[in-house]
Amino acid sequence: MLELLSVMVKGRLNLLISGGTGAGKTTLLNVLSGYIPNVERIVTIEDAAELQLKQGHIVRLETRAPNIEGKGAVRMRQLVINSLRMRPDRIVVGEVRGEEAFDMLQAMNTGHEGSLTTIHANSGRDALARVENMVSMANLNIPERAVRHQIASAIHAVVQIARLSDGTRKVIAISEITGMQDELITMQDIFTFERRAIDETGKVRGTFRATGIRPSSPIAWPPAAPACAPLYSNRKQKYEEEE
Ligand SMILES: Nc1ncnc2c1ncn2[C@@H]1O[C@H](COP(=O)(O)OP(=O)(O)O)[C@@H](O)[C@H]1O
Ligand SMILES: [Mg+2]
Repeated sequence: MLELLSVMVKGRLNLLISGGTGAGKTTLLNVLSGYIPNVERIVTIEDAAELQLKQGHIVRLETRAPNIEGKGAVRMRQLVINSLRMRPDRIVVGEVRGEEAFDMLQAMNTGHEGSLTTIHANSGRDALARVENMVSMANLNIPERAVRHQIASAIHAVVQIARLSDGTRKVIAISEITGMQDELITMQDIFTFERRAIDETGKVRGTFRATGIRPSSPIAWPPAAPACAPLYSNRKQKYEEEE
């Protein structure tokens, strides 16, 4: 599974890492950012500096709280907009919470593929609904359908993680966003963690399983295609790692 995730990062897909508080979103973002090739220019945008990237070309931007007179605040949205002028190959945003979601989508849709971010949500579906809400916070009066369309074309996949009852953190689903059907964004799981039982020590037993669905269109997975091909042909055996 990690192999699949690494290919998705190297293949410049726009990924949304979704999970609850303490599910390990920031930790996973850190791990996945590590797969970004060293030659790419990366801009990171965060509320608090949590990311530890080791690549050579990194610009780190951090938001700033307003001073005592309520001035001088630097908001995430401003940073996202400004980051585009820095000619980044990738934008890594610590966590999207509000209006900056709109600019993030714009960036993802305009040639900054391979952008990564996290979001607080309990399922892939939920994550998309939250992005939609956040875009409306930017107060732009864009019709709902147009917003969904933007989301569907900007985000390639959602990686859902969770903290399970035994305290372990796991990737529980990797879902690809396939497009729109009427008013709805369509998505399909290409990888899931199936919980089977809880053993006597309280540990959750289960299996990581490829659902067998191939990522739908080569367009949605563009530069990754050559690297992915050998993986997908026998993906089922490859990723059925017993816990
Ligand atoms: N896979 C993991 N296994 C064990 N501990 C983890 C794992 N992922 C994250 N943690 C720990 O969980 C805590 C919360 O992780 P963090 O990434 O900050 O969560 P989030 O950003 O989702 O709130 C941290 O103390 C981190 O070290
Ligand atoms: Mg976090």
